[in-house]
Amino acid sequence: MKLLEERIRKDGILKEGNVLKVDNFLNHQMDIELFNEMGKEWKKLFADKNINKVLTIEASGIGIACIVAQYFNVPVVFAKKAQSINIDGEVYSTKIESFTHKKVYDVIVSKKYIGPEDHVLIIDDFLANGCALQGLIQLVEDAGATVEGIGIAIEKGFQQGGKIIRNKGIKLESLAIVDGMNPETGEIIFRKQKQS
Ligand code: G4P
Ligand code: NA
Ligand code: NA
Repeated sequence: MKLLEERIRKDGILKEGNVLKVDNFLNHQMDIELFNEMGKEWKKLFADKNINKVLTIEASGIGIACIVAQYFNVPVVFAKKAQSINIDGEVYSTKIESFTHKKVYDVIVSKKYIGPEDHVLIIDDFLANGCALQGLIQLVEDAGATVEGIGIAIEKGFQQGGKIIRNKGIKLESLAIVDGMNPETGEIIFRKQKQS
């Protein structure tokens, strides 16, 4: 998506360790006009899917998911990062390993808010190694629901997450895929995609 790529070039900050900071418009301050355009784009890309629920994970997925859900006229459920001590039979739970934060945490969704009748669009801000996303897919499957697709704002194409998810046969639409970045020169290489 041209608009998002341009914004990343303008306001994205390249950090050591292949980290792309986008606090100006996505991860701290949020540009709702941009989120609206992203919502419209995903609505087009998933036009052939019957989606009745958007699922994301706290924290930074929630803002995007809420705007996107308006284009599908469906509710948003966000998976919660929990402590094992709070997990009971009322929730689906899975473990997610964060490479960035070097720890394993539990993620839960109440059985009240996801079930076999659900056709889910998963939304998140970043896709890197894909651990968070694989956890969300696991939760949907445990609930007997269907993953209709996944929408990611920024995929780091040089990490393995995108490949793993696409190999599962799931329709994954990342609005910007960063295939390379150089913190010294500020250069960012985007993958060419058929999007507006
Ligand atoms: P993975 O889920 O793809 O395996 O990601 P990983 O564990 O490597 O990343 C941990 C967190 O860092 C995730 O957020 C992920 O979205 C975010 N992240 C990964 N790479 C980048 C990057 O280059 N830039 C930015 N801004 N974020 C990145 P999280 O733990 O779910 O936290 P939250 O921010 O959603 O609360
Ligand atoms: Na996130
Ligand atoms: Na994040």
